[in-house]
Amino acid sequence: MSRFRWSSPFSFILAAGGAAVGLGNIWKFPYITGMNGGGAFVLMYLLCIFLVGVPIFIAELYIGQSAQANTVKAFHHLKPNSYWGFSGYLGVASAFIILSLYGVVSGWILDFEFQALTGKLLQGTSKTVNSQLTGLLASPVRQIFWFLIFIFTSGLVVALGLKRGLERWNKILMPLLFLMLIGLFTFSISLDGFAPALKFMFNPDFSKLTSQALLEAIGHSFFTLSLGIGVIMIYGSYLSPKESLPKIAFSVALLDTFVAIVAGLIIFSIVFTFGLDAKSGPELIFVTLPNLFQQMPGGSLLAIIFFLLISFAALTSAISILELLVSYLVESHGWSRNNAVLSASFGSFLVGLLNVFSYF
Ligand code: PFF
Repeated sequence: MSRFRWSSPFSFILAAGGAAVGLGNIWKFPYITGMNGGGAFVLMYLLCIFLVGVPIFIAELYIGQSAQANTVKAFHHLKPNSYWGFSGYLGVASAFIILSLYGVVSGWILDFEFQALTGKLLQGTSKTVNSQLTGLLASPVRQIFWFLIFIFTSGLVVALGLKRGLERWNKILMPLLFLMLIGLFTFSISLDGFAPALKFMFNPDFSKLTSQALLEAIGHSFFTLSLGIGVIMIYGSYLSPKESLPKIAFSVALLDTFVAIVAGLIIFSIVFTFGLDAKSGPELIFVTLPNLFQQMPGGSLLAIIFFLLISFAALTSAISILELLVSYLVESHGWSRNNAVLSASFGSFLVGLLNVFSYF
C-alpha cells in the first residue's frame, strides 16, 4: 500500500498549524506573558520563534520528508547503524508522556465547556465561580471522565486514518477555530481594556526581563511549535519529497504566533477592563476569566465560545501526538492502525491517571 500524502501544501499547513496551535497558545502563552511582565517577554518570544524555532522546524520537516518514514526509522535513515536511532525512541517516549499530561488539562477544558453550556459555570456568586477549578481538581471522577472523553475523541479521529481523520478534521476544526478567535477579538476591541492590553503586550519594559523569562521564552517556542519530539517530523514525512520547506514552515510559525498574540490580546483586554492583575498564572483562564465573564453582559455566550475554541485547539494538537505513536507502532511493528490507536490512547490514559491523582 502506498504511503499517505497530504493532498496539498495548504492541507499540510492546516494540519501542522493544528498541531502547533493548542493549549500552549491560548492557555500558556497569555499566562506566562502576564507573569513575565508583557512586552519585553513577547519580543523575546517572537525572536525565539523566528530565529530558533523556524530553523528547527525546517530541519524536522526535512528529516521526515527525506526519510518518508516514522520518526524512529527516520533517524536510522539519517545515519544508519549509529546511536542516532535512539533519539527516535526518546521522541516516542516523550510523546507518550506529553499526551498523558495534555489530555488531563484538555479534560478540564471540556469540563468547563460542559459547565458553561449547562449554565453552571457562571452561576452563583463570584466565590462559587472562583471555586470551580478547586472543585474539579478535588474530584478525580470528574477529571477522569472528561480525560477519557478527550482521549477517546482523539483516538477516533486518528483511527479514521490520515485522509478521513487527520486531514479532514483539521480542515473542519481550524477554520472554525479562526472564526471564533476573530469573533472574540472583534468583541475585545470594543472593551476599555483593549488599549492597555495593546500597551502591555507591545510596549517592552526591559527592566522586567529576567534570565528565567528568557529560558521560558525559548522553552515555550519549542512547545508551541510542537518541536523536539518528532511530531513535525512525522507530518513532514507525509509531504511529497518535491515540496519546498521554508515557505510552509514560515507559514505555520506565523499562524501559530498570530493565534497566541490574538488570544493574549483578548484575554488581557478582559483582564484590564476589570482592573485586574495580569499575573495570576495558570489559573488565568480557569479562575480569572470565568470570574470576569460572570460580570459581563453576554458573558455566558463568551464562555461557551471561549472554551469551545480551546477544546478544538487541544484536539488538533493531541491527534498529532497520537499520530506519532501510531505511525511508530504501525510502520515499525506491523500493528493494525486500530490496535495501535487503542493501545497508544489507553497507555497514555493510564499514565495520565497518575497526573490526575497528583492533584487529589
Ligand atoms: N503545540 C501544542 C500547543 O501549543 O498546545 C502542544 C504540543 C503538541 C507540544 C504536540 C508538543 C507536540 F508534539
